[in-house]
Amino acid sequence: MNRRAFLGWVGMGMLAASLPVVIAACTDTDNADTPDTTDSGSGGETPLDTSVRPDGFQALGTIATLDANGTILDSENAAKPVLIYRQPDTNAIAAVNPLCPHKECEVQWQPDLKIFACPCHGSKFGADGSLQVGPSTKPLAKFETKQEGNLILVKVA
Ligand code: FES
Repeated sequence: MNRRAFLGWVGMGMLAASLPVVIAACTDTDNADTPDTTDSGSGGETPLDTSVRPDGFQALGTIATLDANGTILDSENAAKPVLIYRQPDTNAIAAVNPLCPHKECEVQWQPDLKIFACPCHGSKFGADGSLQVGPSTKPLAKFETKQEGNLILVKVA
């Protein structure tokens, strides 16, 4: 075997030896063994079962998603839009209808100010949905919530 053939065999051997490392580096192993079957559909393995239960509650998000994103907005799976968030003082899970009672613009949760602010005409609502500043004359509609493991259940009446 001449020098050129020998170096060719050594090169092929090194390439073959590094192939498993390259394959392992390119494989997503975050959820490979334990898929999150309760994710809300934003990249999760299985969407939530959002059907309304006999007690009127339905699963509209997970604790993991809420804590990762700060809020969960669901405008598709319930009879009304639902914005899930944490009460800033108690960390309790809460949910409101994010449509402003004035003319139904979508309010924005501002956790640093502990208010919901309407971008259309300036109404402001407290962290509990109470009316603080008009022109709205009504508070945000609140929904009952409860936690079941990693699931957040909301009763949209
Ligand atoms: S729609 Fe919110 S203040 Fe008018």
